[in-house]
Amino acid sequence: MPHGTRANPPAFDLILFGGTGDLAMRKLLPALYRRFADGLVSADARIIGVARSTLSDQEYAARAEAACRLYLGADFQDAVWANFGPLLSYVRVDANATTDYQRLAGRLAGRDALVRLFFLSTGPDLFAAICRDLAAANIVNANSRIMLEKPLGEDAASASRINDTVGAMVSERQIYRIDHYLGKETVQNLMALRFGNALFEPLWRRGQISNVQITVAEQLGVEKRAEFFDRTGTLRDMVQNHLLQLMCILAMEPPATNAADAVRDEKLKVLRALRPIGDAEALLKTARGQYRAGIVGTSKAVAYVEEAGIDPASRTETFVAIKAEIDTWRWAGVPFYLRTGKRLPQHVAEIVVTFEHVPHSIFTGRFNSEPPNRLVIRLQPDECITLRILAKSPGEAMRLKPVDLALDLGESFKARPLEAYERLLGDAIAGNLTLFMRRDEVEAAWNWIDPIRAAWDADDDGPRPYAAGSWGPATSSALIARDGFAWNDDL
Ligand code: BG6
Repeated sequence: MPHGTRANPPAFDLILFGGTGDLAMRKLLPALYRRFADGLVSADARIIGVARSTLSDQEYAARAEAACRLYLGADFQDAVWANFGPLLSYVRVDANATTDYQRLAGRLAGRDALVRLFFLSTGPDLFAAICRDLAAANIVNANSRIMLEKPLGEDAASASRINDTVGAMVSERQIYRIDHYLGKETVQNLMALRFGNALFEPLWRRGQISNVQITVAEQLGVEKRAEFFDRTGTLRDMVQNHLLQLMCILAMEPPATNAADAVRDEKLKVLRALRPIGDAEALLKTARGQYRAGIVGTSKAVAYVEEAGIDPASRTETFVAIKAEIDTWRWAGVPFYLRTGKRLPQHVAEIVVTFEHVPHSIFTGRFNSEPPNRLVIRLQPDECITLRILAKSPGEAMRLKPVDLALDLGESFKARPLEAYERLLGDAIAGNLTLFMRRDEVEAAWNWIDPIRAAWDADDDGPRPYAAGSWGPATSSALIARDGFAWNDDL
């Protein structure tokens, strides 16, 4: 099937399960609007919202318009909406009521030759039922693709069950498992940095790199997702997917090409080489926390257990730090410290690669106490790459000081970076699987996470408290200090 061009983009039917939900309104519909405004969506495309509420097409379009206005701000234009709005329609389907699917079948009839994208932005507990009913209604054809929003299950067993159900309906190349971090411009830049430049490769290994830190910090709390989050926790919500995927891209061997399976094969090898963290090590190599009341930025925040919808006795973690080790020739002995949490002091995602000290100093005086080189790749909120080098500070004495070579990518390119879902939707329509997770990757990630979860469940102490607005519990600093390092909180 032709993929179309910017002048002539391909028509498609996108069926959005969870069509009235938060993700659809906040991210997916604005992303589709942006693609349309950029001329990347055919006027013959259709976006069909599907949910349980009873809504007319007009009512659905009105909700979508309000959401796009809100989330796109100054980028929203009435003139664009006038052409985009008519692509939207709505079908009421109760995900558990088999007969409702006939209504959807009616809406799709006669468009079998087009790409048909089913986006399941519902809880994973509904994935299996939706797939069964779609298959029974006979509306999944060879041109269909199934996009699955994370989390894919809650452990290896449930992920495998979901994969079996979806896999019974369509082939693996029709399944697009989302980790929206892979769609971020900056994550692609990590690939560009590593594989577009010869400079770093000889240094990208043990002996040259002393340790790696990956921090994804949020100021937000649980917002309106209390029920989901309290069931899930940070380990499953963020580490199993986003942090491990970032680590894979950072640590994988150079793939032979940028094709989906070439990249995914290499990521899988990293996941499979992760040293398991079982009961005995879990308390030393991981730290989990739950926020208490505090101040984030300038705002007061209540304790996690006082948030609306959270069980006051909840032991769900809102912070995780882990020391991960990759048992390969390239990475043996190089710790990867992963850290993520809610209600932290800043909204920032950053990778810090710290190199080894010089093997021998020819300078006397303070030099040896100066820090080693460090490459900082900031993913958000701004996108920049900074290399810390040591230089002589002016004056008579030979005194070395760290200075930063800084590259602000926003400034350099002066172009709007794509939102993750803009890219991922575009890739799914075009049939490009590179930025989507393959079944074996998802299951390998769960296989590493599950024993950590089990060890925590067996630990009576539960998550350690930290004040909202701080960098997590004391156990997090202790975890990294044991190896003689410290978190980079200079963000
Ligand atoms: C989601 C998590 O996958 O990622 C949320 O479910 C989290 O809890 C979000 O807030 C963070 O994404 P981003 O793009 O804002 O860093």
